[in-house]
Amino acid sequence: MATAENHIRVDNVTMAYGDFLIQEKLDFAVRRGEIFVIMGGSGCGKSTLLKILIGLKSPKVGEIYYDQTPFWSSPVAEQEQLKRKFGTLFQSGALWSSMTLAENIGLALQQYTDLDAAEIREVASYKLSLVGLAGFEDFYPSEISGGMKKRAGLARAMAMDPDILFFDEPSAGLDPISAKLLDDLILELRDSLGTTIVVVTHELASIFAIADSCVFLDADTKTQLATGDPKELRDHHPNFVVRNFLQRGMAARNVDAA
Ligand SMILES: Nc1ncnc2c1ncn2[C@@H]1O[C@H](COP(=O)(O)OP(=O)(O)O)[C@@H](O)[C@H]1O
Ligand SMILES: [Mg+2]
Repeated sequence: MATAENHIRVDNVTMAYGDFLIQEKLDFAVRRGEIFVIMGGSGCGKSTLLKILIGLKSPKVGEIYYDQTPFWSSPVAEQEQLKRKFGTLFQSGALWSSMTLAENIGLALQQYTDLDAAEIREVASYKLSLVGLAGFEDFYPSEISGGMKKRAGLARAMAMDPDILFFDEPSAGLDPISAKLLDDLILELRDSLGTTIVVVTHELASIFAIADSCVFLDADTKTQLATGDPKELRDHHPNFVVRNFLQRGMAARNVDAA
């Protein structure tokens, strides 16, 4: 059941596309203010779970609680209220190329708030400064690097001061240095704003750098095999599938076991 310290509670969720079962009996909680990683091999259902969490796809069985409020059994108006508090950055969540960064970030503010143009611009500048892009308001996406685009996407996800940020494979396609910068930024957002952050990733470096806690989805058994601190799971989990996933390339690259 949902408890006070849990920000998100996934309660006995089964997800499927028609009769095609993706995962069943998912059961875990995300605490307020933590970075929680959804991990697992390609095709195990990470993105599908994210869609269920943000209200884009309904679970076949089970419920998602936000604080004590059930999402899927609530009326649509209440679902919309909950969704306002989500910020999302998808893998494919490209910026609008015909708009400047400030305009991209201002879109949701224009739609959902009473702020005037000058105020929207001010918020956009502030959000850009949070992601290390102060002064880039009038740049177009084509004028900045891949890592900067991701950070601008993050600024856009934060436009409405979300309670929860959801990222799907944020470092996909980035070089290792840009990926590391993005991880540092995610940590900073947790620490400075206290935002709860849910990240889908299979990148080990990211998992160990940012995750306070995680869930491992297994494509073969179609259920979660583990939850908890990923370093603990890597070193001590009884199931070798979990350990293997978290120890990939450890011998070869001498990954820091600290
Ligand atoms: N819209 C869809 N309709 C039917 N099957 C889908 C759809 N989206 C994804 N799938 C299938 O569901 C499974 C899980 O996909 P996904 O959640 O994208 O996995 P992951 O993000 O872990 O790689 C895959 O087998 C994928 O082919
Ligand atoms: Mg995916």
